[in-house]
Amino acid sequence: MDWDQLWIEVNLATMDPEQPGSYGEIEDAALAVKDGKIAWLGRRSDLPEFDPFSVPVLKGNGQWLTPGLIDCHTHLIFAGSRANEFEARLNGATYEEIARQGGGIQSTVNATRAADTESLFHDARLRLNSLLKEGVTRVEIKSGYGLDLDTERKMLELARHLGQLHPIDIHTTFLGAHAIPSEYQGRDNDYVEHVCNDMMPALAADGLMDAVDVFCENIAFDLDQTEAVFKAAKAHGLPVKLHAEQLSNMGGSQLAARHQALSVDHIECLDEEGVKAIAQSGTVAVLLPGAFYFLKETRKPPVDLLRQHQVPMALASDFNPGSSPLCSTLLMLNMGCTLFSLTPAEALAGVTRHAARALGVQARCGQLKVGFDADISQWRIGHPAELAWQYGSNPCSAVYKQGQPVRM
Ligand code: NIG
Ligand code: FE
Repeated sequence: MDWDQLWIEVNLATMDPEQPGSYGEIEDAALAVKDGKIAWLGRRSDLPEFDPFSVPVLKGNGQWLTPGLIDCHTHLIFAGSRANEFEARLNGATYEEIARQGGGIQSTVNATRAADTESLFHDARLRLNSLLKEGVTRVEIKSGYGLDLDTERKMLELARHLGQLHPIDIHTTFLGAHAIPSEYQGRDNDYVEHVCNDMMPALAADGLMDAVDVFCENIAFDLDQTEAVFKAAKAHGLPVKLHAEQLSNMGGSQLAARHQALSVDHIECLDEEGVKAIAQSGTVAVLLPGAFYFLKETRKPPVDLLRQHQVPMALASDFNPGSSPLCSTLLMLNMGCTLFSLTPAEALAGVTRHAARALGVQARCGQLKVGFDADISQWRIGHPAELAWQYGSNPCSAVYKQGQPVRM
């Protein structure tokens, strides 16, 4: 066996549904990597013969390996602070009121338009570094704090650039339909046309988008506007995602299902019809407990119905300055369990296997499985449930991208 790397004395939470146990766990295991892919895994007692002089062996000392964590929903490129809104909300204002008065997303748009590329890059890189330290190897980044072509392009180029320079792999999502920018107030449909007919072709020509997202909500875009953006995305061959059913039930999830969306995200107000629709289309339900917590929402996503209809549930940070100012994917495991009653195994599947599906990379990421990318996080824990149990501490001891140790 001419492997590039072999781990022994490790336990594996493979998250492979074909392995037994809710974590697909294999104890006293070994795992081998060749050319950046997982080449062999199983019980150590079944390990095929190999040449110990040519294969570097890492002893895990009983630590656990999981797939590298995946944060499939973030807005992590932004400038400025929204602490003033946090204060305003604690003095009685609501998120919707602040948005309607020109604060909210628009205030981050103003700050991001004014920011220079270097400072945006610097802040985003530090945020990615802290995710990497907690075992995250793949992150989706949305635009949507530009809302004009130049700034949307600046955000997406920056995200691409980060993907090239940073060990974390980046997926870019165009969220031009995040809010109506102030210069288009009262001309919503003109803005949607601008997104579809001007922005999207220009950004597609430069290959800057991996997917397209819309904020479908009564304070943002309605169903017709959402569908117009979805159709434009399709014309460019891009998959879609949707911020849906966060503050009200608009039926966005059914629309997303009709367009074979990769995911519908937030979905606190999703009803059974919506659950059935996304079950049929194979769309992932992305739960965002950070935003639920920070906005002090009370209505929870319909987790029991999602389970009943076997909808894959991902968990993500939604990291953004307005509704989820928290840069931690690991914390989502605990919040998913305490706030939404996921089991620790469901939570871990939510930041690995199902998060990979929400980004369309489920055939090569999100599981420890032969042929999959060797993106691996190593943890000083006695059992994988500990990842969801403790919060505010970080048991990650090493991260590997395509089998190579990432220096942190
Ligand atoms: O995912 N829902 C819309 N977008 C973000 C919030 C953005 C903001 O308030 O800046 C979200 O919660
Ligand atoms: Fe979001």
